[in-house]
Amino acid sequence: MDLLVLYYSVGGSVRRMAELVAEGIERAPGAAARLRTVPRLSERNPVAEEGPPYCELGDLEECAGLALGSPTRFGNMAAPLKHFLDGTSLLWHRGTLAGKPACVFTSTSSLHGGQETTLVSMMLPLLHHGMLVLGLPYTQAEINATRSGGTPYGASHFAGIADDLPITADERALCIAQGRRLAEVALKLCSA
Ligand SMILES: Cc1cc2nc3c(=O)[nH]c(=O)nc-3n(C[C@H](O)[C@H](O)[C@H](O)COP(=O)(O)O)c2cc1C
Repeated sequence: MDLLVLYYSVGGSVRRMAELVAEGIERAPGAAARLRTVPRLSERNPVAEEGPPYCELGDLEECAGLALGSPTRFGNMAAPLKHFLDGTSLLWHRGTLAGKPACVFTSTSSLHGGQETTLVSMMLPLLHHGMLVLGLPYTQAEINATRSGGTPYGASHFAGIADDLPITADERALCIAQGRRLAEVALKLCSA
């Protein structure tokens, strides 16, 4: 069973988080992560020259669940990711994503720079698609322990104003836990 990890990243923070979410997915026996990204709005080449391929609607159709990652941009998701989601109305009409589990993650340069608003804004289109949006439960001890990122709305990373802070042990554990939780829920839904 494939779970889609779809992200946008310029500086690499969200990409590193996506890789950890994928690691968590693959810790669930029977689940595999499919990493995809989206191009910059100015990009003309339809094929990614490096890194994961650009996401296609078929990836959303084929995968049993979605982890969506974006840098925070003015307290909201980045435009290239929103642009991609705005092109999914065919799937919305068909109800392709209805009933599939989803989760969201983000990175910011300031600690109180809008992680939670971004995460909630990312949930909105997924709810319109009928996806089952998962957060991170407080039973995950790192949610209480973290002194940087990590929220009940989804994993997050405080990258610092120079975007150079490493992902902390708590942030890392929460990314992995989020991926694993998504995969475990998808597996349960598919076997129900
Ligand atoms: C246009 C723009 C808007 C941004 N808005 C915010 C913001 O509202 N709050 C914040 O803390 N960081 C903001 N940032 C910083 C990014 O969220 C942060 O650098 C993030 O870690 C980048 O992720 P990436 O390395 O995956 O690209 C903004 C950056 C840009 C370019």
